[in-house]
Amino acid sequence: MFSRAMTGKYAVPAYNFNNMEQLQAIITGCIRSNSPVILQVSGSARNYIGAGFLPHLAAAARSMVEEARSAIPVALHLDHGNSFELAKSCIEAGFSSVMIDASHHSFEENAKLSREVVEYAHDNDVTVEAELGVLAGIEDEVVAEKSSYTRPEEVEKFLEMTGVDSLAISIGTSHGAHKFKLKPGEEPPPLKFDILEEIERRVPGFPIVLHGASSVMAKHIEQINRFGGKMENTAGIPEEQLRRAAALAVCKVNIDSDGRLAMTAAIRQIFAEKPSEFDPRKYLGPARDELTEMIIHKNTQVLGSAGRY
Ligand code: G3H
Ligand code: 13P
Ligand code: ZN
Repeated sequence: MFSRAMTGKYAVPAYNFNNMEQLQAIITGCIRSNSPVILQVSGSARNYIGAGFLPHLAAAARSMVEEARSAIPVALHLDHGNSFELAKSCIEAGFSSVMIDASHHSFEENAKLSREVVEYAHDNDVTVEAELGVLAGIEDEVVAEKSSYTRPEEVEKFLEMTGVDSLAISIGTSHGAHKFKLKPGEEPPPLKFDILEEIERRVPGFPIVLHGASSVMAKHIEQINRFGGKMENTAGIPEEQLRRAAALAVCKVNIDSDGRLAMTAAIRQIFAEKPSEFDPRKYLGPARDELTEMIIHKNTQVLGSAGRY
């Protein structure tokens, strides 16, 4: 997936899911737009679904692709794994890929733990993503007040020491729906493309991962607030910047918050307009449709992953 994304100058979407409707929307959106897809779950999402239940959901997603006679590749990935044991457990359960996120530790500790996971994962034909630099915000159960950008001069040594297959970097994105504190009318600051370009110069062709890449779409924030929600001072990464990153060394773009917002917006509208509705299919169904449309939009208009398979 990554080598094709690198030569094709696009990024593979990595969408987080926590339930059946999200998973169906992601798969349907990617089948319809002929896009490769990485289905990812955090440790807490895996606990929510149930570690034993999850492989069955993933198998069902694969069946959807086969039944549609689609050729899109699908990976199941652990997002922000925080221990060797969690990564091992996911590998044993059949994941195709795991992230070990030890980015909040020292360089040496990060490299040591990442190496340990790589050895076990590669023996089992599983690929590994690690992270260098720290993103502000919540990374699963890890909360960082301030970000620290990735230092390009550390990247080659880290890759040599660990043997990881892809690397998440910190260039100004962060997790969640409040990425920047902006004054009214102010634009989000540009991502640190100089860092990304310097990393690409040092390790040409190596797949880079961008976390915290939700755009926090205005239409969903407006819809949420119009129908009784209260989301203030939200800010995301402008689509234009994601397009630029996807054409450079960024091969995987992580999107979670935008999917949450799309579903919440649709559900709020139904609850507000039809207060007597109590059939979950009548609000989860439209929420799934809204998410499907969003996935097609991202693949087609932002990541460039549509029409590749
Ligand atoms: O990067 C973190 C993801 O958005 C997952 O969040 O731990 O709430 O599932 P979560
Ligand atoms: P967002 O919160 O911007 O969607 O980031 C998701 C992410 O990085 C998952 O690992
Ligand atoms: Zn992340």
